[in-house]
Amino acid sequence: MRNQLSEETVQPIAERWLAAREWAEHLLSQMTPAEKIGQLNQVSVDVASPELIGRVEAGLIGSIINVVDPEQIARLRKAAVASRLGIPLLFGRDIVHGFEIMGPIPLGLAATWNPELLRVFCALTAKAASMRGLNWTFAPMVDLSRDPRWGRIAEGFGEDPFLSASLARASVQGFQEDLDHVLLACPKHFVGYGASESGIDYNRTHFSDQDLFNLYLPAFEAAFNAGALTVMPSFSEINGQPGVSNQRMLRQILRERLGYTGLIVSDWAALAELTIHGVAEDGAQAAQLGLEAGVHIDMMSGLYETHLVDRSALDTSVMKLIDPLVLDVLTLKHAAGLLDAENNRGSLAGGGKREQQNKEALLTVATQLAEESCILLKNHGQILPWRYIDGSLAIIGPLANQSAEQIGTWSFDADLSQCETPLQAFEAHWGGSVTFCAGLDYSRARDAGGIEDAVKLAASSDKTLLVLGEEAVLSGEAHCRSELDLPGDQTKLLKAVAKAARSLVVVVMAGRPLQLTEILGDVDALLFCFHPGSQSGPAIRNILVGDTNPSGRLPVSFPRSVGQIPIYYRRGSTGRPPVGDEVQFIDDIPVGAKQYSTGNTAYHLDVEPSPLFPFGYGKSYSEFRYQNLSAEVIGLGDDLVVWVQVEIQNVSQRAGRETIQLYMRDPVARVARPVRELVAYKKIELQAGETKGIEFTLGLADLSYHDGAERFVEPGLFQFYVGGDSEASLSVEIRLTPEQLASSGL
Ligand code: NOJ
Repeated sequence: MRNQLSEETVQPIAERWLAAREWAEHLLSQMTPAEKIGQLNQVSVDVASPELIGRVEAGLIGSIINVVDPEQIARLRKAAVASRLGIPLLFGRDIVHGFEIMGPIPLGLAATWNPELLRVFCALTAKAASMRGLNWTFAPMVDLSRDPRWGRIAEGFGEDPFLSASLARASVQGFQEDLDHVLLACPKHFVGYGASESGIDYNRTHFSDQDLFNLYLPAFEAAFNAGALTVMPSFSEINGQPGVSNQRMLRQILRERLGYTGLIVSDWAALAELTIHGVAEDGAQAAQLGLEAGVHIDMMSGLYETHLVDRSALDTSVMKLIDPLVLDVLTLKHAAGLLDAENNRGSLAGGGKREQQNKEALLTVATQLAEESCILLKNHGQILPWRYIDGSLAIIGPLANQSAEQIGTWSFDADLSQCETPLQAFEAHWGGSVTFCAGLDYSRARDAGGIEDAVKLAASSDKTLLVLGEEAVLSGEAHCRSELDLPGDQTKLLKAVAKAARSLVVVVMAGRPLQLTEILGDVDALLFCFHPGSQSGPAIRNILVGDTNPSGRLPVSFPRSVGQIPIYYRRGSTGRPPVGDEVQFIDDIPVGAKQYSTGNTAYHLDVEPSPLFPFGYGKSYSEFRYQNLSAEVIGLGDDLVVWVQVEIQNVSQRAGRETIQLYMRDPVARVARPVRELVAYKKIELQAGETKGIEFTLGLADLSYHDGAERFVEPGLFQFYVGGDSEASLSVEIRLTPEQLASSGL
């Protein structure tokens, strides 16, 4: 099967679009230029001041970002209803990985490889936020990234287009599935924002059309197919033109090629930044560029309001650009049910009981997501799970007991009182004594004597748990790093504690892959968590004591050194792959060696040419064996499918979950194709000793690639690899003949 979600997409809003259009057209004919431009104008506020209420009543504002207090929302909503045409407001907020109850950061959500659970979480989150009166989230962020220096890698679903697309689809379905509690989704940032040069946020992005179609667009397409009706362009310059004024991307690719019919909302003041980018001389020209690119909503630059009202009265060509945009905004408001009585009553009618029930459901799902997001990277000598949960336990580290650091970036609305840290979770459930010593007060701290105390504590305890990593503020928007080591004196803390501890387990919590090379040899067991959210503590505790079998898998490769970046599994073969004796490292080169001494292949002289941990990797307490892999071609033309079967056995004594990953290689094509591409995956539960047969059915689209101009499937050899990570070795191949493909549309 292609993924774990049903093929049927849930699109209640899209289904109402046509009927809403009629209403919108009628309304548009009654609007003044100022009222029209008001619908395109978005402002950020947290309090409904009398001045703001007045502007809403005058129809000069169509959407609001960042107001979250239900009383304030209710006042603003009332003002909109009281305006001449009574057009409701959109209330947007960055609800990126939870509202008050937080799940893992999106990179952690991706590590679950569990789209169904993500869909449920997004649906519950939508309900929580909509009961407060919100109706729009600027999520999911679907920017594929291969650069862990980039702080916003935390907000995306990792390095792979297929995994990202499956999670984008699930998020949108969840946010929008209940028409009574819709949170409109807004996939962002269109497009290729994750390609920021040097991993610096807002930096220029340059990529080919092959990368555009094969890497960056699939997650957006999946989000649109699932019913997303708003999208946000990238801040960055894309091949020379900023996202918000990029007509090629917004008109030709988004609208014409992808057939997108929804709204485009600028990023924060992105129109005003066009003058700083150097593509507009002043605000008036920037507003014009936004209009020409088809940007419906101006988030926070005020340029549409300042520059278009007077011009549109004088210049009919401006109104010709504005009218279709306003029509779309009105249509969306109607289709999303903003006019329905139930939605207009909003949160205050919701009542505490419904909110409480929803919160309880959210806590359960957030715990499961947190558990499934933690990746066991090392478990030497099977020291985990801890067999005995009594005796003295030392808990050390700057991230062991700080609530906000468990939750990660984009957590403005997080209810910290609902967050349980690892220390709190162990204090609540441990058979013996639990003693805490931070060692370092925060992740960037330098030693001020705390390391010595930590060492003494570790030496006198039966077991030691060290919780290290990055504070939440070190990743996310504009928080990029050039080094990926543990900040501050944490490596020193780890090495000192490792020498003293009788039995040490290390948890590393961060917003990005870190460079773990220097510490890996010092630890027997290492659990990596992308900030796991409100339920971080219980999730980590459950895994360490063995109540939960870890099942997280890496959604992104971990480099051995920063110099390897970008490093990703879906790489090209090159004409000279680094194999066998074709690799000679720096210390082995004889002194005085001549130019051809190293094998002339694609590698760095000073680091193994592989990641420290590959994409898809993660350990379990169970052990799985793959066998009897076969592949068969069935049917012809557009009906052709490749049917891949494999058997998987749990050869251990305990039940566990495995993520079966199917990778493909098209070894000969008209353009060089990646050495592997993920084309399907499935997460399953297997009892001790149990064997299951798994089937994947791939259609022509799965076998295809885009050469920048068109999508193709070519006859010839296809190789498939199945296993528990992107380095799986069990393989099988098929050959497609020209006859089998002759009548296909591709
Ligand atoms: C800027 C960010 O780039 C974007 O992702 C976010 O949705 C907006 N600010 C609104 O907060």
